[in-house]
Amino acid sequence: MVDATSAGLTPADKAALTSGASFWRTEAAVGLPAVTLTDGPHGVRMQPGSADHLGLGQSAPATCFPPAAGLAQSWDHRMVERVGAALGDEARALGVGVLLGPGINIKRDPRCGRNFEYYSEDPLVSGVLGAAWVRGVQGRGVGASVKHFAANNAEHDRMRSDSRVEARPLHEIYLQGFRRVIAESHPWTVMCSYNKINGVYASENRWLLTDLLRTRWGFTGVVVSDWGAVSDRVRALAAGLDLAMPGGDSGLDAEVVTAVEDGRLDPAAVDASAARVLGLLARAARAPHPAPVDLDAHHRLAREAAARCIVLLKNSGDTLPLRRDAALAVLGPFAAHPRFQGGGSSHVNASRVDIALDEIRSRSSGDVTYGAGYGSAADQERLLEEARAAARAADAVVLFLGLSDRDESEGYDREHIDLPAEQLDLLRAVTEAQPCTIVVLAHGGVVRLAEVDRLAAAVLDGALLGQGGGAALADVLFGVVNPSGRLAETVPVRLEDAPSFLNFPGEHSRVVYGEGLFVGYRGYDARGTAVTYPFGHGLSYTTFEYGDAAVVTDGEDLAVTVAVTNTGPRAGREVVQVYVAKADSAVLRAPQALVAFEVVDLPRGATEPVTLRVPRSDLAYWDDRVGDWVVEGGVYTLRVGRSSRDIRSCTSIEVPGDAVHLPLTANSTITEVLADPEAGPRLMSMFAETMPAGADVAGLGMDVFAMVASIPLNRLTAFVGRDASAALEQILGRPESTID
Ligand code: BGC
Repeated sequence: MVDATSAGLTPADKAALTSGASFWRTEAAVGLPAVTLTDGPHGVRMQPGSADHLGLGQSAPATCFPPAAGLAQSWDHRMVERVGAALGDEARALGVGVLLGPGINIKRDPRCGRNFEYYSEDPLVSGVLGAAWVRGVQGRGVGASVKHFAANNAEHDRMRSDSRVEARPLHEIYLQGFRRVIAESHPWTVMCSYNKINGVYASENRWLLTDLLRTRWGFTGVVVSDWGAVSDRVRALAAGLDLAMPGGDSGLDAEVVTAVEDGRLDPAAVDASAARVLGLLARAARAPHPAPVDLDAHHRLAREAAARCIVLLKNSGDTLPLRRDAALAVLGPFAAHPRFQGGGSSHVNASRVDIALDEIRSRSSGDVTYGAGYGSAADQERLLEEARAAARAADAVVLFLGLSDRDESEGYDREHIDLPAEQLDLLRAVTEAQPCTIVVLAHGGVVRLAEVDRLAAAVLDGALLGQGGGAALADVLFGVVNPSGRLAETVPVRLEDAPSFLNFPGEHSRVVYGEGLFVGYRGYDARGTAVTYPFGHGLSYTTFEYGDAAVVTDGEDLAVTVAVTNTGPRAGREVVQVYVAKADSAVLRAPQALVAFEVVDLPRGATEPVTLRVPRSDLAYWDDRVGDWVVEGGVYTLRVGRSSRDIRSCTSIEVPGDAVHLPLTANSTITEVLADPEAGPRLMSMFAETMPAGADVAGLGMDVFAMVASIPLNRLTAFVGRDASAALEQILGRPESTID
């Protein structure tokens, strides 16, 4: 790393380095050019003119790949890495040194307005795909900025809201994806979020930015603030925030210098942050020269990626794929005006956009009619009537439904998860007229689908597919592509079923994560709640059979193997999922948690053994008593299947646990003391001494122990009738002054 002190920088130079020079740029220093940072996760939003972080101003044309909500449905880290590499190339060609993504926050509640920019309700999916994205981008010499660190799971009041999260869910659910991305792909930067975590702003949170991120996880890059997340530069620098963005206010840099001069800020903190920013400048300066970008090739990749993200939710009676010569009524405005990305800072000026209606027409040899089906209130009856007539006249209807740009966006949350009423009216009218109706969905956050599932013959879910979505959907509809996407978020029957329902979005700038560990499928499974479509669900035009799963140890880790056979009529891609369960656990656990997944391509009739590694460390829970990860010893069941609710085979293995050394204290219970090899016998002999003459301590019945088992030592001394401190010293074997 470049040493900011020896580089001969003045205190003012160093302070200046720790904030941007302008909206999107750092300072230049010591002969290194400034670095441009820009959004975002699914396309480069390079603004040549006026700058904003709301997606308002124009940006240079770029490829809009599927946003995270769509991309995650591929469950395919190789695909995500390829998308990342293409993004890296486009960023470099536009002079961007750091791309502000990926967004890997957990989809805690279906209403979060920014769920379209996040991958999953599950930390493994978020972490694995986030790491792949970073590898792809950074492999092209452009830095990533994994965001928003941390516990930023709602848009409501996002700049002030305090996320109150217990230690276990914080580590096991909300931080876990970040930990994985940092360990596996070493992002150049981490972006801290706007919100507070347990009372302290992320930007001022020393525990988060220094103790955890750097000291425990070993992160060596730059912590950059979300745009406008820093309200106190001095406190932020002291906490470990290196680069406050956006920049341009030199008054704040002067405040940093003053704080150092009057002793409020350790100069070492400024030196360290300035050095890290210089390190970032040096890294970016080493990037290879940009090559011209082939936007046609990237558009093809955007289509390929989009096709992998489409989930076949339902396909009764093999409605899909469609025959090429089928007469089709294509209905719904999204067929002609696609919704393919979300609103806000990630909004991309797409280089081109595939229109599903055109793509369907170009692949079809039959009649294809189009109708909007809904629109202004005045036209509603007429549009519905036309839709009914078109539906009756066709062999099948392809009905496009979903959420519009207005329904969801960065900056605000939704209040419900229903499809708009006029769309449901259209669905009812059309399915009555034509039972062979295929619904195609576009949305960023989850929508309620109970009625769609009941009425439609087939359902395709694209979430948001980026600029190639139209062609990808047509390919799936006609069977050019066999769908293989899987839901990365549960579709509940009702919003009220969501585990976070009563704790979202909080009140008075405070949100209690009351559902704890039970986020997404963990919560639905724990309560046995019926869902419309479970986490991990996705059908195919072929069928798969699973053999018996087996698990062996591989060093410390586990290797789960299962043979998967393509038993259906065509080649297909399967996403094999492994969930872990532990009965009789001493700690609270979800009934099952995803621990591995792998994509496998299988020609028709082929069988392949699929081996999935489960690192032993991924079996650990966060033990707040010791402030560390602990693997509990005992039998673990590995549940292998097609989705969280379609488990095909289970296998078990005994795993040795970690020893947990909890120092005994005055507050330790009799049970805890007796379990200790040294203090236990001492306590027993003390019992013997204090027992009435002739009592047989060793022969005490278990029920007597059960009665006293939970008494802490410091209360017990009151019963034993001796000097309490002396008794404690004797049992714990150390002087009273060292006992807490
Ligand atoms: C968003 C970030 C984004 C930044 C810059 C903020 O409002 O939360 O995700 O990277 O703006 O546009």
